[in-house]
Amino acid sequence: MSEIKAIILAAGKGTRMKSETPKVLHKIFEKPLLGYVLDNVKNIVNESFVIVGHHAEEVTEYVEKNYVSAKTILQSPQLGTGHAVSMVCPHLQNFEGQAIILCGDTPLITEKTIKEFIEFHNSKDSDITVMSTIFENPTNYGRIIRENDNSLKCIVEEKDATPEQKAIKEVNAGIYCLNWNKIKDAFSQLTSNNAQGEYYLTDIIAWGKKQNLNVNAYILDNSDEIYGINSRNNLATATKIMNERKLNDLMDNGVTIVDPTSTWISEDTEIETDTIIYPSTYIEGINKIGKNCKIGPCAHLRGGVEIADNCKIGNFVELKKAKINHNTNVGHLSYIGDSELGARVNIGAGTITANYNPLTKEKSKTILKDDVKIGSNTVLVAPVTVDEGANIGALSVITKNIKAWSLALTRSPIKIIEDWVSKNLEKK
Ligand code: UD1
Ligand code: CA
Repeated sequence: MSEIKAIILAAGKGTRMKSETPKVLHKIFEKPLLGYVLDNVKNIVNESFVIVGHHAEEVTEYVEKNYVSAKTILQSPQLGTGHAVSMVCPHLQNFEGQAIILCGDTPLITEKTIKEFIEFHNSKDSDITVMSTIFENPTNYGRIIRENDNSLKCIVEEKDATPEQKAIKEVNAGIYCLNWNKIKDAFSQLTSNNAQGEYYLTDIIAWGKKQNLNVNAYILDNSDEIYGINSRNNLATATKIMNERKLNDLMDNGVTIVDPTSTWISEDTEIETDTIIYPSTYIEGINKIGKNCKIGPCAHLRGGVEIADNCKIGNFVELKKAKINHNTNVGHLSYIGDSELGARVNIGAGTITANYNPLTKEKSKTILKDDVKIGSNTVLVAPVTVDEGANIGALSVITKNIKAWSLALTRSPIKIIEDWVSKNLEKK
């Protein structure tokens, strides 16, 4: 297999989002759209180039912080998709392998589809392969124009299309696989002689035909995968599609989802068999949940959560960066963040880990060892460790480490004034 690089287009403006945030950094389950695309190629390519332009600094910062094998390349001004790809040319002068091109605003594409697309490209001995799909309503997409023998001819953009061409339902998905050294010369030869005055990447199809290259289209069955985000409405639709896909996958693999219409689970959450997810549960970020757990109703997992087997996370419980060992219960109305909980721990209702110091802006850890029992309405002021088997009385504020098998409580003594009510009633 030859080396494969990814080129991800992310310089465009995204005007219709009406946002201060660049489009590709809008999030689904707390992960930016661009992150989905980068994650879907990371096992396939050895390097990714992200073309940035609008809000380049913010997008670059995100990529550099999260993806070591990705480079950002500035495109300024943005003169079209063909111009965007041409920015990579100086970086790939002697590159002999393949380049796959994707858009940063298409988060629903899967690793499986990208792999199949590249396999198709190789099996056809293709030089240029474009991904297409059939849309009942093809408006706004580039149309795939074929010769009489059904081979590819060119791609025509909506704004350049004749009424006959507009009636074509096969559209360009905006994903390409190129044998780079055969195509790279195209980028200096594209013209902007079209309705939008832009350098169109799509023109490489007609260019390739002229050079007698082998040009093919791979028709994608599941057109959901190339759904692009242009508006807030699209963002909501994509979130829903991604969630449905995840819930079906979990159910196929032995997880009970009591109510798929009110349950939201991120792609990056792993859940093992016989765990039950109750209604109105929202799980975002990267998480791992073991076997035989009960989560919810109305639980909120915010990422970095690892739960071992046989645990119960009850209603109105919020978890963030929490590692929870087996047979532990966090039953009701609690916040557990930046914490490690051992096995067989019981957390009473309304327990809070106070993990944030607003003066230093630091977050600290709470560690509860095996068999610890925490009474209701306890505040654990981090950093704090409660050793094995210790008990905490209800309503305590724990600011010191607690030794194993001891009891700690900070409750003020109860005061009972007998007959107080009846005496006061008499006065009236
Ligand atoms: C493009 C295709 C169209 C296809 C559609 C699929 C072209 C000319 N048209 O149209 O055939 O059906 O995608 O979604 O390629 N971008 C840059 N720099 C630029 C311009 C765009 O990086 O100078 C990026 C955008 O940020 C975006 C992607 O390229 O991620 C596509 O650009 P967009 O303007 O959305 O193209 P479409 O009109 O949707
Ligand atoms: Ca688009």
